[in-house]
Amino acid sequence: MPCTVIAGGFWGDEGKGKIISYLALKDKLDLCVRTGSVNAAHTIWYEGKRYALHMVPGGFVHNRCRLLIGAGANVQVAQFLREVEETNVENRIGVDRQASIIEEKHSNQDKTSAYLKGLGTTGWGVGPAIEERVCRTAKLAKDVPELEPYLADVATEANQAIDAGREVLLEGTQGLLLSLFHGTYPYVTGRDTSASAICSEAGVGPTKIDEVMVVLKSFVTRVGTGPLPGEISKQEAMKRGWFETAAGTGRDRRSAPFNFELAKKALMINGATQVATTKLDCVFPECKDARDYQQLSEKAKQFIKEIENQTGTPVALIGTGPEALSIIDRRKHLTAT
Ligand code: IMP
Ligand code: MG
Repeated sequence: MPCTVIAGGFWGDEGKGKIISYLALKDKLDLCVRTGSVNAAHTIWYEGKRYALHMVPGGFVHNRCRLLIGAGANVQVAQFLREVEETNVENRIGVDRQASIIEEKHSNQDKTSAYLKGLGTTGWGVGPAIEERVCRTAKLAKDVPELEPYLADVATEANQAIDAGREVLLEGTQGLLLSLFHGTYPYVTGRDTSASAICSEAGVGPTKIDEVMVVLKSFVTRVGTGPLPGEISKQEAMKRGWFETAAGTGRDRRSAPFNFELAKKALMINGATQVATTKLDCVFPECKDARDYQQLSEKAKQFIKEIENQTGTPVALIGTGPEALSIIDRRKHLTAT
């Protein structure tokens, strides 16, 4: 599958980081392009260590993978440099010359605006930074001396890699329901989060995409304000083992049971060809760390089949634990049938 887009199906935090790290290792990704901004944290467990990455693409776990940040992304320079050091990827990471810079002043705007606070933003300043980009006053990566060693032409690199048949992954952030256009407006982020937007931010046209994989957690969570159908109490979430705190901001995540209607909408708008479900073990604990579909309980299999029946989309990957390799990979079976 030379070029795959990974997009979130709900309100972010579906476990995209885990899916990306698995694909990086398993498919030996050649190139991984991150889109979006610093507000999103992708959690990756690798070799017993936990990473919460706001800037570095999740493909870093495969040490031969070239890592890029697209022209449509926003770079927070200090965070970028910290993560480059933490993940030791200095020699294989690039930032598009035209990626815009998110500055302290944007974060201050996020934190001091009563309106933005009311929306429950992460406080990183993504909305205000994008506003500047739209006004054409934003600073770009090419204007920042510390980024000089990393400057790249991401669209050209990505398209050349795809044309050469290399394994390329375009990494989305957040989820469809946080999309500025298709989400629960105004309780959304400052950009579109759909697969099309991920392609656009990276500079790759839709005809170059082989698979759009939408990640759906086995239950739904959301941080910040806004509607969450079927929401359960924090106490109930703790009882069910669904209670989570945000990897980026540490805030409590609100939770609700899996929602087939929302999943259908997310798969439709993303043009999904495959689904990856995550955290199956949080809903069906007996499935923890299963690596084979046959190891799943009947109830868990029923849930997976229900997703496939209702959405008409195959569930290609099933996450059964936090480690990158705790996955049931059904892709071979999909191509065989
Ligand atoms: P902003 O993106 O910081 O402007 O925040 C707008 C809304 O999106 C708030 O409800 C945030 O909690 C939510 N949000 C932003 N980034 C993420 C993320 O990575 N995961 C989950 N929610 C997010
Ligand atoms: Mg997250």
